[in-house]
Amino acid sequence: MRVLVVTGAGISAESGIPTFRGTGGYWRNLDPTKLATQSAFDSDPEIVWQWYRERRDMIRRAQPNAAHQAVARLSARADDFFLITQNVDDLHRRADWDGYRLPCDQVVQIHGDIFMTKCERGDFARAENADDAFGIPRCPKCGARMRPGVVWFGEELDPREVARADGFVRARPCSAVIVVGTSVAFDYIVHWTRLATGRRGRLIEINPEDQFLGGLGAEWIKEPAAVALPRLVDELLAERKPS
Ligand code: OAD
Repeated sequence: MRVLVVTGAGISAESGIPTFRGTGGYWRNLDPTKLATQSAFDSDPEIVWQWYRERRDMIRRAQPNAAHQAVARLSARADDFFLITQNVDDLHRRADWDGYRLPCDQVVQIHGDIFMTKCERGDFARAENADDAFGIPRCPKCGARMRPGVVWFGEELDPREVARADGFVRARPCSAVIVVGTSVAFDYIVHWTRLATGRRGRLIEINPEDQFLGGLGAEWIKEPAAVALPRLVDELLAERKPS
């Protein structure tokens, strides 16, 4: 049983975190897909930081839901498991199943980590701290502006994280690939999903509103993640051949 799970904002929706493109995604009438850009930061870094501060606070108050827990359970029980998440929140990391948490080496946060702060110019990065509470924090090494440690639209992904995702999907195909709560807006997500599924894998998409991977032959479970994923994990574990 070799499983890849790919998640997007929809898996955290039932924890109270708004998705990017869905209703409720807007913040003070601003489109998050425009705020999460270098050009927004250049024209108004204060507003961009305010948005991220509020998102950090909201995420801190949120709790992982049954879908995050089901992912932790699957990682504990599958022979081989990997999660590619587009989410910058820490709910996958905090979710546990019977005391078991997803190990760091089985997760890639391909769009970064909202609780990191990084230099706009150099490599310096650190965990959030009190300097982030007001204004625009400055890099202690070079004095440049610091920004949240996330990938913005139009930016390159971190090549080390890409290599980790590539390493898992290229090693050999999966028996199941589960894509949860994402509008699949990026080609690399489609690419990893296709490679991991191979010719014989089962591809399952969980999304209560739309299907995006029908063209790849995905089964569609048209339900919210916190309902569908725990049940699907039960089914996959029950079908598992005794070793
Ligand atoms: P989106 O906001 O584009 O899509 C969220 C998807 O979740 C939608 O298709 C919803 O139908 C679905 N959804 C809503 N509620 C759900 C629920 N309870 N259970 C399951 N699905 C649900 O978010 P992403 O696809 O994650 O990137 O967006 C991808 C990336 O675009 C983000 O990582 C971010 C964003 O802008 C960057 O910042 C680079």
